[in-house]
Amino acid sequence: MKRVLTIALLALSFNLAGTAGELPLLAHVHGRSFASLNGKWNYVIDPLENGYYDYRMKPLRNGFFVNAKATRPGDLVEYNLDASPTMDIPSDWNTRDEKLFFYEGTVWFKRDFKIGKQEGKKYLLYFGAVNYSAKVWVNGKKAGEHVGGYTPFNFDVTGLVVDGDNFVVVKVDNKRHQDAVPTLNMDWWNYGGITREVMLVELPETYIEDYTVQLSKGRYDLITGVARLNDSLPGREITLSIPGLGVTRVARTDSRGEARFEIKARPRLWSPASPELYDVIISNDGETIRDQIGFRQIETRGKQLLLNGKQIFLRGVSIHEEAPFHQGRAWSVDHAMTLLGWAKEMGCNYVRLAHYPHNEHMVRAAERLGIMVWSEIPVYWTISWENENTYLNAERQLHDMITRDRNRCAVIIWSIANETPHGEARDRFLARLAGRARAMDNTRLISMAMEVTSDNRGVNTLNDNMNEHVDVISFNEYVGWYRGNNESARAMTWIVPYDKPVIISEFGGGALQGTRGEKTRRWTEEYQEELYRVNLEMLDKIEGLSGLSPWILVDFYSPRRQLPGVQDFFNRKGLISNWGVKKKAFRVMQDFYERKAREIK
Ligand code: GCU
Repeated sequence: MKRVLTIALLALSFNLAGTAGELPLLAHVHGRSFASLNGKWNYVIDPLENGYYDYRMKPLRNGFFVNAKATRPGDLVEYNLDASPTMDIPSDWNTRDEKLFFYEGTVWFKRDFKIGKQEGKKYLLYFGAVNYSAKVWVNGKKAGEHVGGYTPFNFDVTGLVVDGDNFVVVKVDNKRHQDAVPTLNMDWWNYGGITREVMLVELPETYIEDYTVQLSKGRYDLITGVARLNDSLPGREITLSIPGLGVTRVARTDSRGEARFEIKARPRLWSPASPELYDVIISNDGETIRDQIGFRQIETRGKQLLLNGKQIFLRGVSIHEEAPFHQGRAWSVDHAMTLLGWAKEMGCNYVRLAHYPHNEHMVRAAERLGIMVWSEIPVYWTISWENENTYLNAERQLHDMITRDRNRCAVIIWSIANETPHGEARDRFLARLAGRARAMDNTRLISMAMEVTSDNRGVNTLNDNMNEHVDVISFNEYVGWYRGNNESARAMTWIVPYDKPVIISEFGGGALQGTRGEKTRRWTEEYQEELYRVNLEMLDKIEGLSGLSPWILVDFYSPRRQLPGVQDFFNRKGLISNWGVKKKAFRVMQDFYERKAREIK
């Protein structure tokens, strides 16, 4: 009886993590012992999923994932992964193979890898992100599945990998679906593929799965920490040390496998002016994890935003995760440093990472550079609010975004939505999501990008039921672009009837870099420059204005932008062109932020 019960519990624990074989997300994967599986992967384009279904649409027992080979003259095998073309991973297929620029469907990926498998070790296969859904096999056996294009996931492959030669096959499908998150319609390119790093992680049987180390909410003299093992094993010693503070503590795990720490200390605080990070070392027998963690407080007081108890103004800009100069999904430290370098040049101390969690390098680079971060899940536009699976998908993506970045002090705002249409079902969905975010992390601010829906002869009043569920009121406005022209802004006023700080999460307009002309002619740099000038003048009058993230740092690919000779599938609202050339409006933002920095440090 006992054995049956154990197996049942084991199965249940796997299912709790999502799907059989998927394990709870491993914290700080780059701080573990891993073999990178980045590099050349073979790929097969499979629009009819012929490698997964038979001609009656029944799943194949021996699909492409078994990586079959014709070994005798009479063998019939109608694919050959080894002989198929290769693609550098991480990447999106859209910008790597011109046949795939607009492609939405399945592409199979395969990579060989060697390991020296050790007894008593656990092996996790970790993906930084795959857009949009992934099915994964190792040596022809199913490792697991995952849905969600912008958050990491990992599978237990200990029982699948062998000592020596192995291969992994991934079926990636980026088709859009109404009930997905995001849904069918979005203003960014639906880049498909293994878009972030892949690692094979080697761990002790019992390892530190997750940890949180931060200042206790509202305190500057108390650091709290919790470290959780992958097993509910009590009595295990875990050591937490912060050499820069001269502290080392040992704690024992409780019945849930969690060890808790309380450290009286006054760390030097992280801020944009002084992005102080401490080495934090967490270890238990057989494993030592090194991280860099900053300590700070973020809170609101009425309409003021406070960092470490002092009022701040978020001098920001919105950024899509698009690689500078050659487009495609950004994923590397270099991509992050270029994009954030441009933001710094503009005078930013804050970025809105739209509209989905960006790669971990972007968040860690922001932390090192002293740039605060708004991080968002792609609950974007017309989501299926009544669909429980859609909600659970959104909640899973929220959970994984927070789990991955909860130790990143640069992240100050979790955003749960963008420009969602008002309605009862949407309010219920988002209120539930906001509650979940707060339950997971009560140390950061919750927000979402709202829309202003009422305009009474130039008086715009924000009126969104979600105001009571967020800590910061944020909204997008497009006066001068989607609403009226640059003359309209002069007569516009804004009323935000909530006693909370206000961030303008988007404003802006388009210009084709290099197009000169009258400031009344759309698509000229002069029009965009004037739009920024009059919008800043209008917005700066809003009571409680605590931040801006104009839309957007760089021109980006979008399937919604078809104007030939001007857009050519680019959204041209960038302050910088897709070739990295600054437009005249960039200077307007620079001057405004220079003044703002003098007003509010
Ligand atoms: C919206 C939306 C963005 C979009 C922008 C635009 O506000 O949030 O994702 O790209 O407008 O129309 O350019």
